[in-house]
Amino acid sequence: MANETPDYAEFMNKLVALCKRRGIIFQSSEIYGGFNGFWDYGPNGAPFRKSIERAWWKYMVEDRDNVVGLDSSIICHPKVWKASGHVDQFSDQMTDCKDCKKRWRVDQLPVPGECPACGSHNLTPARDFNLMMRTYVGPVFDEDHIAYLRAETCQPIFVDFNTIRVSTRQKLPFGIAQTGKAFRNEINPRNFTFRSREFMQMEMEFFCDDADSMQWFDFWMQERWNFYTKILRIPESKLRWHWHEKLAHYAKKAVDIEFEFPFGWDEIEGIHHRGTWDMSQHAKFSGEEAACKVFNQDTKEAYYPTVVETSCGLDRISLMMLCNAYEEDTAATKKADKDEDIRVVMHFPALVAPVQAAVLPLSKKLEAPTREIQKLLRAADIRTEYDDTGSIGKRYRRQDEIGTPFDVTYDFDSENDHAVTVRNRDTMAQERVPVDQLVDWLTKAIRG
Ligand code: GAP
Repeated sequence: MANETPDYAEFMNKLVALCKRRGIIFQSSEIYGGFNGFWDYGPNGAPFRKSIERAWWKYMVEDRDNVVGLDSSIICHPKVWKASGHVDQFSDQMTDCKDCKKRWRVDQLPVPGECPACGSHNLTPARDFNLMMRTYVGPVFDEDHIAYLRAETCQPIFVDFNTIRVSTRQKLPFGIAQTGKAFRNEINPRNFTFRSREFMQMEMEFFCDDADSMQWFDFWMQERWNFYTKILRIPESKLRWHWHEKLAHYAKKAVDIEFEFPFGWDEIEGIHHRGTWDMSQHAKFSGEEAACKVFNQDTKEAYYPTVVETSCGLDRISLMMLCNAYEEDTAATKKADKDEDIRVVMHFPALVAPVQAAVLPLSKKLEAPTREIQKLLRAADIRTEYDDTGSIGKRYRRQDEIGTPFDVTYDFDSENDHAVTVRNRDTMAQERVPVDQLVDWLTKAIRG
């Protein structure tokens, strides 16, 4: 990861301030001083993140015959995490600075053996630090009642494989997808939401024959690239592949998709060949070998399916969308002694914008007919916000800051010509649209 340059810090400070000011993302438990690594998505952040999740679900599950969905519990049998290796091996090496008392991940020290905060070389020897979040299930808080908040959403997919396969009559090759919370006790949460302790994952495990697995790996690489470039409209120039050189012994290939964040290139998604590792581990630990295998009618033998995984973090994707959307340009102003002012505008694709169309009466007297317009848009599943506070210019600025692609203004002429003015966030062009064509006009424009 790149060093924190002043440019980077200034950009991130502006983005974090905007996110708080406009109710997109802010620290959890702020009135208690915040809680490091935990974030709340506010009234504008929740619809934004949910719409990215919905776009992923539609693209990965609903639009395909060979991928089905799961919504599993967050806490599952503690043995699941023994089998997956998380209880014994899911750890980072950490070191403490004896002088300033800060704790660091050894692999993230810019200069080995030196504290990045105070420059001291007085560091403790590296120690393993398990990232699993623990809790207790049942009435007694002792070792026998320890359970874990899941560290990744994919393990329940492996555990439920057979039940899902039988209930959906799926045959290999097919995938199971799930979105949901994951928890990791990260030593050093940082870069806003990039590395959090509670975050959302969106994962798909594709079960196939080993002989076809490399073809499926290539297929999913292309599909995932298309998701970012075609659905979320991230420019190709800001994405790149990062191949893993060190592979787990069971894996044939592993690649990450990286985005160019203001703080440097970093991972948003991993596409991993997991071999038969997960299924054979769960067979071993559960004793239910048949539930972890499929039957080959030709050879009359049961075998472990090979798994190709696509795994991404919704919060990292949201952060990528925020970084990519942020722009400062200039717009006309009515402020005294100025013709132009800086405008902050978020160029979100309409699909994920928290508000897709703001409905603005030119005067508070026009509330009733403007509310009628809002009803029409809501019935067409367009996310709207009604705003009649302040000058129309100020209202445009507020909508630009949350990335609203279209502002619909009802004015005094609307009473007579039955039309409204639609302003485009990106071009600031204005167009008069008849009210009876507005839903079609906006629906088309939102689909882009
Ligand atoms: N099942 C494989 C797996 O969990 P991972 O590379 O540990 O692989 C996959 O995580 C994705 O989850 C990452 O690419 C990232 O987008 C997201 N992710 C992982 N740790 C995260 C964290 N602490 N905060 C936010 N997102 C995280």
